Amino acid sequence: MRRMLLATLLPALAINGSVFASEPLRVCLDPDVPPLSSAAGPEHGILYEIGQRLAHALARPFAVVWWPTDLGKRAIRLTVLADRCDVMLGVPFVKGLMGPRLLVAGPLFELGYVLVLPAGESLAQIEDLRGRRIGVAFNSEAQSALATLEGVEPVTFRQPEEAVRALLAGAVDAAMVWEPAAVAVERESGQRLAILRLDGPRLRWQVGAGLAREKRALRDQLDALIAAMGEEIAAIRRAYGLRYDGALRWDWLPLEGERRGARPSAIVPAAAEAEAADPAVIARGRELFNSILGCAHCHGPDAVGPDKARDLRRMRIRYRASWPETYWQTVLEGRLQTQSGLVMPAWKDTAARPDLEAILAWLATLQLAR
Ligand code: HEC
Repeated sequence: MRRMLLATLLPALAINGSVFASEPLRVCLDPDVPPLSSAAGPEHGILYEIGQRLAHALARPFAVVWWPTDLGKRAIRLTVLADRCDVMLGVPFVKGLMGPRLLVAGPLFELGYVLVLPAGESLAQIEDLRGRRIGVAFNSEAQSALATLEGVEPVTFRQPEEAVRALLAGAVDAAMVWEPAAVAVERESGQRLAILRLDGPRLRWQVGAGLAREKRALRDQLDALIAAMGEEIAAIRRAYGLRYDGALRWDWLPLEGERRGARPSAIVPAAAEAEAADPAVIARGRELFNSILGCAHCHGPDAVGPDKARDLRRMRIRYRASWPETYWQTVLEGRLQTQSGLVMPAWKDTAARPDLEAILAWLATLQLAR
């Protein structure tokens, strides 16, 4: 029934005169993340154009379903998992993003944070930001990263585009935002900016196409098509102004090389409370949590938590004696299904074992009785 209705409502979608030889490819896109996708037009964005090309290659009419994605996983639940569309473009290319229910094809391309400066300016190293005012979006990874850099003055905005507009207005000296925001403001203002790619932990990621697990065959088709579309996708990105005027390496999380020997390899329950921890270790744990590793960014300063589920002073109440075990399990492996819909990142490859032990020792001193 529904399909017939679509066919009568959307005759304009017929491609190459082949009137609905096959069902439309229903593609979910966010209506308001230019230049990735935009319902307003006149151009509908990079992901929209990729969707059109994928539909064309499958010899299926293209049907867009605009759906805001600011609710994150809930948006995926309400769309691809509820069969409102066949595929959502722009989801993080992460295996197990939502357990076995969601398949992810791709990756389509890489995306990440950039440092935006006035046109013509550049920066030799990230430390040169000291003494400058930097615009960032509230609750972004850039905000956590910036918190680890002493001597800069972060200025927080609700939306990343506002941070870039503040740069054009001279209210900040630079902006650290995800790249679509920088390009969107360039396009809306007609003014060019210097856009430097930031290479470092958690500052870049890949986007893909999310599908319900029933659509395995379509996923395989999309994987093959996307793999052959590399050049075409790169050209679409360029046409929309996505580019880098330079790049900066920034290892803002203390890790890798220097501490490889100390990296945890297995989940080991620890009887943290039994050991009377050294006050210096406890103080170090607090510092790691609040500033160096940026846990406080999601869990609140001193682990007080923006909501009960992230209040880490309640772990003993929640899990009784086994709370340290839950700590290790969660911190090493991360958690994808959470009450807030935010992801708890896995730290096993990014934080050193002694640092995670110090945080545990400090948390042990904070546990509430009831
Ligand atoms: C990007 C946000 C984010 C960051 C950064 C983060 N966490 Fe989490 N963390 C979460 C979320 C979300 C949960 C899940 C809460 C829930 O289950 O709803 C969580 C859960 C946890 C839990 C389990 C809590 C429980 O009671 O089940 C621990 C322990 C934890 N985090 C420790 C840390 C530590 C230590 C760090 C820093 C090394 C850290 N987190 C950094 C978002 C974050």
